[in-house]
Amino acid sequence: MRRITLTQYLVEQQREKGIVSGELRLLIEVVARACKSISNAVSKGALTGILGNAGSDNVQGEAQKKLDVISNEVLLEANEWGGHLAAMASEEMEHPHQIPNRYPRGEFLLLMDPLDGSSNIDVNVSIGTIFSVLRCPEGVTPDEQAFLQPGSKQVAAGFAVYGPSTILVLTVGNGVAGFTLDREMGSWILTQPKIEIPADTSEFAINMSNRRNWGPAVTRYIDECLAGKTGPLGKDYNMRWVASMVADVYRILTRGGIFMYPQDAKHKEGRLRLMYEANPMSMIVEQAGGAATNGMQRILDVQPAKLHQRVGVILGSRNEVERVTGYHREMQKS
Ligand code: F6P
Repeated sequence: MRRITLTQYLVEQQREKGIVSGELRLLIEVVARACKSISNAVSKGALTGILGNAGSDNVQGEAQKKLDVISNEVLLEANEWGGHLAAMASEEMEHPHQIPNRYPRGEFLLLMDPLDGSSNIDVNVSIGTIFSVLRCPEGVTPDEQAFLQPGSKQVAAGFAVYGPSTILVLTVGNGVAGFTLDREMGSWILTQPKIEIPADTSEFAINMSNRRNWGPAVTRYIDECLAGKTGPLGKDYNMRWVASMVADVYRILTRGGIFMYPQDAKHKEGRLRLMYEANPMSMIVEQAGGAATNGMQRILDVQPAKLHQRVGVILGSRNEVERVTGYHREMQKS
């Protein structure tokens, strides 16, 4: 069987579809290379003393893990000098990181969650890196304002999962492909050429401990799932919650499902970050035939007001996401 590498895949997208410029290809390859280093660091775990807290807080006031800080540095260093970026923004930094003057500047903006699923780092459960690529508006300084574009403007999005195998999921706006890291060769090999999410599912993912805080639409839907075969949905549902968005979304890309971290009485604006979690995942899910909303609106249409904005997230199998979104709209009317 012919093994197709990430580079070959991108060159093909460039040649046949004309949707990946040389500069975008370089950017994606550099991010993918940084993910290899992070995967390597993650796999060493306690052997190299990189587990545990860094002793600092990020901009959200959450305790940073050592691996959060290391992953952020790996991505910054890898992407700084190549000439494909105008600026970078990260969950771990309050303000965008400007490309130092000694390096050339490019046309893209990179947003990233360097290590998603922080609560799972120390317990050896899958974690990952999420990234989103936007074009920098022409003639503007790449400050925070330049990043505030709706997710529909993304030119590429992807994530890596550091699990039993290391996987890279990528979209450049022409479907979704999955690559597995061949550690011996050091290459990303195309293993899932066309990922598609089934429209229906009987598996849901939500943090049930937030139940008392949910709004009526989410409560109604989950109660219906729990009612099973004899309930209004007429089938038994299974529940999964890894608590790493990368792993939960990867499962949904593999066998369908619905993932929810909705706005609720405690997380009034939602819990997940719009620009480097919800937007890239929503682009990937939509490109795989699924849907992603905040309950009322397509996530990719949300106009961000600030870099670290949060948003409610309901994504996955299309029919199920539409059902929950429909419940929100009904409740809104009544
Ligand atoms: O910060 C993001 C994140 O770790 C996601 O990866 C995950 O889906 C969620 O938070 C887990 O939230 P909780 O800790 O409430 O289960």
